[in-house]
Amino acid sequence: MIQFLLNDTVTEVQSASPSLTILEWLRTTTGKKGTKEGCATGDCGACTLLIGEEVTNNKGETYWQYKTLNSCLMLVGNAHGKHIITVEAVSLTQYPELEDLHPVQRAMVECHGSQCGFCTPGIIMSLLALYINNETYPGKTAVIHALGGNLCRCTGYNPILKAAEKAFEYDRAEEPWSAMAINFKESLLAAPQDNALPYLEDNQRKFYLPQTVSQLVELTATYPEASIVAGGTDFAIELSQHLLKPEVVISVSQTSELTQFSEKDGQFEIGAAVPYCDFVDVLCRTYPEAKELFERLGSTQVRNGGTLGGSLGNASPIGDPAPLLIALNATMDLQSVKGIRTIKVEDFFTGYRQTVLAADEVIAKISIPKRSESLKLACHKVSKRFEDDISTVCLILAVEHANNVITSARFALGGMAAIPARAPKMEAQLIGGRLDTKTFMKAGAVVEKDFSPMSDVRATANYRLITTQNLMQRIGYEFSQAIPVNNITTPSARISHASL
Ligand SMILES: Cc1cc2nc3c(=O)[nH]c(=O)nc-3n(C[C@H](O)[C@H](O)[C@H](O)COP(=O)(O)OP(=O)(O)OC[C@H]3O[C@@H](n4cnc5c(N)ncnc54)[C@H](O)[C@@H]3O)c2cc1C
Ligand code: FES
Ligand code: FES
Repeated sequence: MIQFLLNDTVTEVQSASPSLTILEWLRTTTGKKGTKEGCATGDCGACTLLIGEEVTNNKGETYWQYKTLNSCLMLVGNAHGKHIITVEAVSLTQYPELEDLHPVQRAMVECHGSQCGFCTPGIIMSLLALYINNETYPGKTAVIHALGGNLCRCTGYNPILKAAEKAFEYDRAEEPWSAMAINFKESLLAAPQDNALPYLEDNQRKFYLPQTVSQLVELTATYPEASIVAGGTDFAIELSQHLLKPEVVISVSQTSELTQFSEKDGQFEIGAAVPYCDFVDVLCRTYPEAKELFERLGSTQVRNGGTLGGSLGNASPIGDPAPLLIALNATMDLQSVKGIRTIKVEDFFTGYRQTVLAADEVIAKISIPKRSESLKLACHKVSKRFEDDISTVCLILAVEHANNVITSARFALGGMAAIPARAPKMEAQLIGGRLDTKTFMKAGAVVEKDFSPMSDVRATANYRLITTQNLMQRIGYEFSQAIPVNNITTPSARISHASL
């Protein structure tokens, strides 16, 4: 059985398919059809919900944090202990003077932000999250980020952007949800505990939600054929697109050891199940060059659910985090009942979607070493669209230097081979060279010795090779300070993207 708060109602689910998404459950079991299904792949945002969970800040204070998620990507079982807010509840709050409309709804009406209305529930939920998490209008950039995962086909985005601003001009609406959530949590704690794992079953197909790593590895030892899920942003696509019907699903999303994130003496330890939204800001204080890479990973909803463990476990050759982790010489802990083995991220991938992970193992933690003082880092993602798109080429280069002479180079690329891979020939060309454009162009010239990429719907092999060479030239300019380093706030980032 699992238990969560659905709007203002404590809800128990006794039995359900392990692959049932919250979206399907809402629309078929509860009859709440305000949440729409557009794509079922996380791309359109029509199914956006608000999910509340109790979090503890670094002062030890607990509070309820609300964020958006794509309900087409979230399994019902992962809702245990959380607060789900659907579009039906947005005007449930008492605003008689506003004819029961929440300020974000009223602003959408007054700014004409909706036409056919199919996208509107999802947009309302994204605007609601923005509203709850900001006391005052946070500016257009923040609005664009908040709405990056919401497509609208008919209205045009200007009225929606205006509505986002206008919502903050009305009298502020008090947020009623965390009080409900606190009561829900208290009622959970007051109920007699049977120490049973949160669990769902349907026709002998099972879903487990282990709370500790020892419970998790016992389960993976018992069910080595089980599907592991974290945020579900890749896994749920296997369900909707490839009709995967797993017999046993084990979710790591609430396994306490896998949801810890810490920074100590400049080193980062990131639990495999920590969503991007919970570690990226802190990581990017040390590695600001990687900020744009994460800002362009999916959408806000995807980053609120997706994890590093899921990205590595998915073993896609075009996942963005792996090249970064390889270039930074990160390691990962693989855990089973037999213990923990630590390997380098670069040794994890063995072939197209193949890894060294044994059937009974899980990825437990990713560790990123301390930044060396002379490190120069370049992160470039080239994709067909700037926001919410998978990479055609993802290039990460980390070099160290003494007096502007390169002493070491770690160069990792995604989209150029069957796995995210290093470029030993290009690295060798760089070592001993000066930090100038000539050195990087020389290294770019040997790209074909390291890679023979494939042509696919995203790009031809030749495009990928030329793109890599052009990026090397660009990095040469960046490192020799002829142009500013890549950063989403500088127009140069967009120039590099557009000019390729
Ligand atoms: C609309 C959309 C846009 C996207 N855009 C990008 C993008 O721009 N760049 C990018 O890199 N990715 C992108 N993704 C892919 C995805 O969001 C990431 O790969 C994400 O990090 C996956 O994390 P998750 O927790 O959701 O993984 P899940 O879907 O839960 O799991 C993915 C795989 O990893 C395995 N797994 C999960 N956790 C573990 C673990 N602890 N141990 C062992 N195996 C595990 C699962 O069995 C599964 O096979 C996008 C996805 C969507 C839906
Ligand atoms: S239905 Fe399109 S993002 Fe979920
Ligand atoms: S109003 Fe029709 S898709 Fe947005």
